[in-house]
Amino acid sequence: MKVLVATEKPFAAVAVNDIRKIIESAGHEFALLEKYTDKAQLIEAVADADALIVRSDKVTADVIEAAGKLKIVVRAGAGYDNLDLDACTRRGIVAMNTPGQNSNAVAELAIAMMIYMSRNCFTPGTGHEIMCKTVGIQAYGNVGRLVAMKAKALGMNVMAFDPFIPVERIKDEGVTPAESLEQMYSSCDFISLHIPATPQTKGSIGYDLISRMPKGGCLVNTARKEVINEPELIKVLEERPDLKYVTDVAAACQDELNEKFGNRVFATSKKMGAETLEANINAGLAAAHQIVAYFEDGCTKFQVNK
Ligand code: 3PG
Repeated sequence: MKVLVATEKPFAAVAVNDIRKIIESAGHEFALLEKYTDKAQLIEAVADADALIVRSDKVTADVIEAAGKLKIVVRAGAGYDNLDLDACTRRGIVAMNTPGQNSNAVAELAIAMMIYMSRNCFTPGTGHEIMCKTVGIQAYGNVGRLVAMKAKALGMNVMAFDPFIPVERIKDEGVTPAESLEQMYSSCDFISLHIPATPQTKGSIGYDLISRMPKGGCLVNTARKEVINEPELIKVLEERPDLKYVTDVAAACQDELNEKFGNRVFATSKKMGAETLEANINAGLAAAHQIVAYFEDGCTKFQVNK
């Protein structure tokens, strides 16, 4: 079987090399398309691929259509909003992610962003410490739990809201379950977003929630830009000169945000939450193992289009 790794944003060379070894030692062929600049290159490369490993690369219906032999696609990472699951399902292609494999890297970045914004983006002037501040974790999954653990170790108070996780589990981990999303936003100096981009969450973080944050509050987005209602974010930042927004997923209107709000906003120039050697190795190798296991035993443990 031919396994194509197609990553516009490449894995570290060490990870690529180890992915290659896993694929080849299982008797498969390895192919690599990195740093491509045009979707046409991806469309051409998938034509004879039996399996595909991607990161945030957009695997849209036209890519699936061009991949006549494709049997499995693995998103090496958590969020799979970049895969057209319906197109995969129509063609009988198994789609998977590698949950948890890059979570620590993202959680570390979320904490770093809180400190960065508390210290005026590392520009001169008096800032704040994060110790004794309260952070609210929106979605208590793999990343959210790790942010909670690190925040507690730094002396922060931690709240969490996740309608899909039993309150008792949150309590058992020394985290205060929020009664509602509104209550959490009203009570927290920082809100750290860890929700996926779904039809239910897209545009869901807007004026009503953000304006509830106490004086000096900071919204931290290492999740997806689509969850933010951008016009409402601008409105609330205009009305509340004390609030801040920091993100690893630049807004569509990021230039406007930077121009209007200066050091009260910050966006990384390219999403870097999972950009560590450790996360590249964890997620990349997991993807390779999942493909080998699928071809060997039909294992579909991490399938997301069941
Ligand atoms: C994820 O969903 O796993 C993260 O957003 C990482 O995305 P990346 O692989 O594009 O860095």
